[in-house]
Amino acid sequence: MNIAVIGAGKVGGTLAEKWAKKGHKINIGVKDPSSKQHWNEIDNISVSSLNDAVDNSEVFLVAVPVPAIVEIAESLGDLSGKILIDATNSVFAKPQPYENGFSAFQSINNAKLVKGFNTTGFENLYDTEYEGKPIDMFMAGSDEDAKDVMRQLSKDAGFENCYDFGGDDKVGLVEQFALAWINLAIMQGEGRNIAFKVLKR
Ligand SMILES: NC(=O)c1ccc[n+]([C@@H]2O[C@H](COP(=O)([O-])OP(=O)(O)OC[C@H]3O[C@@H](n4cnc5c(N)ncnc54)[C@H](OP(=O)(O)O)[C@@H]3O)[C@@H](O)[C@H]2O)c1
Repeated sequence: MNIAVIGAGKVGGTLAEKWAKKGHKINIGVKDPSSKQHWNEIDNISVSSLNDAVDNSEVFLVAVPVPAIVEIAESLGDLSGKILIDATNSVFAKPQPYENGFSAFQSINNAKLVKGFNTTGFENLYDTEYEGKPIDMFMAGSDEDAKDVMRQLSKDAGFENCYDFGGDDKVGLVEQFALAWINLAIMQGEGRNIAFKVLKR
């Protein structure tokens, strides 16, 4: 896939490198491409302006801090027919006047949306194995094409299953699930090397 990564920090940068290793073509979309040239040294990754990233990509991962969400959404413009994965978390602040990133992208970009890669710390995106077994990813959204892409990219990032929380009405729940991880890891002091996995019998 041709994937634009908007916000190549801890979350976006980690996933960009993993997907590039799996053969996906990654466009790191930034305002000033001259400032991020180091990414061009990695196979399958190139840095481009936001406009070029929009022209050359069919899938978008947005992983920027909440205060940047509306600005980024407006810069990306109309993404009709393209898939946007929202990895942001509006659990402590909202991208006013929107409730969360998902509703901002829905209103501004008109993309095929899925919420995912937000429910765990970036360390677990980098290393998805605990005791030799891959952990799971979780998602929500009403667009089935976007969820198919999310399933594939979760596998390509090393997750075992990508569990579906449901439609757009479950996006808030997936953000609260992220807050459950943050609460255990940070506020309750369990540390960032903890992860959720669904067990069945
Ligand atoms: N950290 C985690 O463990 C984690 C886990 C799950 C979800 N999340 C969510 O993922 C999102 C990103 O978190 P992160 O930890 O990856 O953040 P981060 O490491 O600070 O990276 C943020 C990225 O966004 C870019 N950015 C910031 N402001 C921007 C703007 N106005 N326009 C364009 N790009 C901008 C930054 O570019 P520069 O480097 O040029 O500033 C950087 O590449 C947040 O919404 C967070 O809640 C984080």
